[in-house]
Amino acid sequence: MVLSDQEVNYFINTVKSISAYDFSEYSEKSLKRRLQKILIDNNLDLIGLINKLKTNPNFLEKIVRDITVNTTELFRDPAIWQTLRYRVLPQFAQNRNINIWHAGCSTGQEVYSMLILLNELGLLDKAKIFASDLNTEALETAKKGTYKYRFNIGYLDNFDKVIKENPLNYDEYNDVAYEKYFKIDKISDTIIINDFLRKKPIFRQHDLVKGGNLYFAKFDLILCRNVIIYFKYSLQNKVFKLFHDHLYTNGSLVLGMHETMLGEITSRFEKKGQVYRKR
Ligand SMILES: C[S@@+](CC[C@H](N)C(=O)[O-])C[C@H]1O[C@@H](n2cnc3c(N)ncnc32)[C@H](O)[C@@H]1O
Repeated sequence: MVLSDQEVNYFINTVKSISAYDFSEYSEKSLKRRLQKILIDNNLDLIGLINKLKTNPNFLEKIVRDITVNTTELFRDPAIWQTLRYRVLPQFAQNRNINIWHAGCSTGQEVYSMLILLNELGLLDKAKIFASDLNTEALETAKKGTYKYRFNIGYLDNFDKVIKENPLNYDEYNDVAYEKYFKIDKISDTIIINDFLRKKPIFRQHDLVKGGNLYFAKFDLILCRNVIIYFKYSLQNKVFKLFHDHLYTNGSLVLGMHETMLGEITSRFEKKGQVYRKR
């Protein structure tokens, strides 16, 4: 099923008129792709979909979840975690508190990766971790900290690369047991994050389109990875401005591997790879 730009706009405007969700500044290409898949999966045409959205709030929530991509993993893109470990987090070691915001945290694996790393660096006690997402169902999974084991077996390789190995010295090997941070239960096919990590983050629903700082705090570090890739340039810039306003000077914003800041706002940051340090 191929949708025209007008049909996609019709969908966006309808959702905007009947809910608080606004996809008008999401990238057209990925939105159109997701919408086409939704129509096929639900065996509906656009009019059928719109009618159902108008009469069924639960269906609307489901469609919003289907539109936003929730893919994530523990220590996703290990190279950036090594940068955080050896270059970024040590800068905050002398701070009394370290405030970190995961914007678009999905089901929480990024948050738990951060907590594990902070614990390895002896910084966990001084860290305050805030994590937000648009998708409330993803946030519920994040709070539970329980994931499928077999599906996510690659987590262990990522953990080894970031926590056990030292990319600067391959002779060095930290034999950190997985059980220190999570329980692998092969019978129930789950990885369960240990309680001392699960009780640490504050998870909240927050829509980056609406802006505002939901935590009324300033941050030393903001991770917003693989989120703005789905936004148009205009919304990306709005979000960067929001992050800039809520970072301390010398605080850093970390973007995903395929995301870049462009335009005037770049002059307010010093960029090294995916890390943007506020000037
Ligand atoms: C691909 S996941 C990224 C998860 C994690 N940051 C990572 O890199 O693995 C993108 C997340 O952005 C969230 N998202 C999309 N639009 C959003 C918005 N307007 N406000 C907040 N979160 C949003 C989605 O719900 C989804 O959980």
